[in-house]
Amino acid sequence: MQSALVLLALLLLPLSASSALPTATSVVAGLNELARAAGKLYFGTATDNTTPEFTDPTYMGILENYNQFGQLTPANAMKWMYIEPEPGVFNFTLGNQIADLAEEYGMVLRGHNGVWYEELPSWVTSTDWNATGLAYAVQRHVSGIVGQYAGRVYAWDVVNEPLNDNGTYREDLFYNALNTTYINIALEAARAADPNVKLYINEYNIEYVGTKSTAMQNLIKQLQSEGVPLSGVGMESHFIVGEVPTTLVENFEAYAALGLEFAITELDIRMELPATEELYEQQKQDYYTVVNACMQVSACVGVTVWDWTDKYSWVPGTFPGYGDACPWDANYTRTPAYDGIAIAFEGQSISA
Ligand code: XIL
Repeated sequence: MQSALVLLALLLLPLSASSALPTATSVVAGLNELARAAGKLYFGTATDNTTPEFTDPTYMGILENYNQFGQLTPANAMKWMYIEPEPGVFNFTLGNQIADLAEEYGMVLRGHNGVWYEELPSWVTSTDWNATGLAYAVQRHVSGIVGQYAGRVYAWDVVNEPLNDNGTYREDLFYNALNTTYINIALEAARAADPNVKLYINEYNIEYVGTKSTAMQNLIKQLQSEGVPLSGVGMESHFIVGEVPTTLVENFEAYAALGLEFAITELDIRMELPATEELYEQQKQDYYTVVNACMQVSACVGVTVWDWTDKYSWVPGTFPGYGDACPWDANYTRTPAYDGIAIAFEGQSISA
């Protein structure tokens, strides 16, 4: 009798195991193939060679698959602290590694980033800048990095995160010394260094209708009226499961109406852990919503996830208690989020 009960329990165990989360079911072409078939330039990913990612053969095997990824963004390698660690002294070793990889596999390269308040070398953060000195440093920095990769980069995030969430300018060291003119200086320097590269401003919480998006549109109009070169806007898109904004398409159309292209540049959709089947299903819907919004507006050139596997996502380290934000889990299994992306690129509607 007892052994019959044990047998019964063993038989039921797989059904009741709470760790069995759903996985992707689509056996379709890769996500980049689908994006391109849909008329987009790419589906791509951030990747980070300042971490052990690049020594992980399983990671590299999937990263190098053009069917999945037609575009790369260095998550850190081209940031100021890595690429100009001393004044006027550039170190392109890490940046070149990503640029070479993109070239080897025929992938579009996004340069990231020119001027940002984070990941600055100490010589920048510890100097008490006057306007002339910092204008020179910004100009030299942006010319140096954009010039190095001229002809090889599709688009540069020349200016990164210039706004506060309430729509005012972020009072970082650039703004404090130069007011908004650092934005003009950076964009002009980038254009002078590469006549053809797309010049972007990249920002978060501008993906939806609201104060910050209005402020970004006002900044764009001001730059346009001044004749400052600007090609596009990066919509970072770091979202939370169940909280994806409902005004993406309406907001994207406002940017397109300004004559700019745009891209989803840093997509991830995090959930409060532990993951459940319900959260995974909602996340599939949410990924669909974002990619479908890009599909609805032709000025949206492509979608980049901010790394593709939970194994190396920045999310758990930055948002404690949150994770499982990527379309591949930490064991490299595709999750339902993958299906959400695929269904959107295929132009299908999603069933709940
Ligand atoms: C993040 C990287 O992923 C992390 O590895 C790093 O420690 C901090 O920066 N907005 C951006 C990106 O524009 O550059 C940031 O990347 C994520 C938020």
